[in-house]
Amino acid sequence: MSTHQSIRLLLAVTSPFWRAEEWLSQTSRKDWPQSLLALWSLHRAIDRNGFLKVLSPPQRKQLNLNLASFRPKHSGSLSLSKTKTETLFMLESASLRIADFLADSASWNEKRSWLQRWFNSTSFLTLTESILFSDECIDRILGLQERSIQKKLSTKQLPKTYLEESIYLDLDPVDLYTPYRVLCRWSKTLKLQPGTRVLDLGSGVGRIPITLGLLFPKVEFIGIELMRERHAMAEKARKGLGLRNVRLICGNAAKQGLPPAHYYYLFNPFIGDTLRQVFRQLKNRTRHGKLRVAVAQIELPWSYIQKQNWLKPIRRFKADKAWEGIGITVFESL
Ligand SMILES: C[S@@+](CC[C@H](N)C(=O)[O-])C[C@H]1O[C@@H](n2cnc3c(N)ncnc32)[C@H](O)[C@@H]1O
Repeated sequence: MSTHQSIRLLLAVTSPFWRAEEWLSQTSRKDWPQSLLALWSLHRAIDRNGFLKVLSPPQRKQLNLNLASFRPKHSGSLSLSKTKTETLFMLESASLRIADFLADSASWNEKRSWLQRWFNSTSFLTLTESILFSDECIDRILGLQERSIQKKLSTKQLPKTYLEESIYLDLDPVDLYTPYRVLCRWSKTLKLQPGTRVLDLGSGVGRIPITLGLLFPKVEFIGIELMRERHAMAEKARKGLGLRNVRLICGNAAKQGLPPAHYYYLFNPFIGDTLRQVFRQLKNRTRHGKLRVAVAQIELPWSYIQKQNWLKPIRRFKADKAWEGIGITVFESL
């Protein structure tokens, strides 16, 4: 995008009259996903490169007028750093509104082809590294609304099965789920062969089986998730995207027999007895052949797994700084 186009975009989406629906109806359908990326690029340019400084005085005045209409009256004029904060917030909220519109208006075929293109595009992966809310936009496009689950359950008495496990109902999706870009980059290092089976233990709203299922149509992905609400959302997206290589199971990974797989992935799903029971099952599985356990290096499971003398680390994937230095280590059974 040229500087001129970026400024037009900025002034358009910060306007109090901007509506995602109207704006996208003037854009060709095939460019819809591009509009989201254009907003993210603008967000990054403002955040990192001080893009606001290129605005002429009348453009700056217009931007401030736009922002002022969302502020309480008489809050005075803004410093450049406050203008920046507010502008970034407006762009974030516009992106989420576009994602909601795309969720409702695009067909599952369109969503499937956008995601396949994005997940294979280096520029998408680099851009989303600095745009943390981009994951939430993708979740929303797929109808994976973790926040709405949390809101709904906050007013209800939780079933005993939930209370006994670590289901993290107070965590933001940014901290609860493996980022899409990390999954795309990491999975490419695995060189998964057709017929390989990968199982995500505690699959949440299904980011892993869905993302990898789209990237590797000849590999089989299974997700096991305890919570009905998360499982149901993931299953709806799986069906919509027509992912025949993905199977989602709703159940307790410690209590039901784990299906055989070549890789088992864990991102902080269990602690205590559940973790021990799952590892007992995994160790038993090695009687039938070697297996690999991929672990996001965070908190308890990580220190517990490092102590398993039947597993040796074979590959370490260093994730980007935006994922707080959490990497993924693949262990292989001896
Ligand atoms: C930190 S999230 C990780 C989700 C996903 N693997 C990812 O990386 O995006 C862990 C998930 O494990 C689920 N969970 C907790 N205990 C479980 C159990 N015993 N069996 C199956 N899932 C469980 C939680 O409900 C939560 O959705």
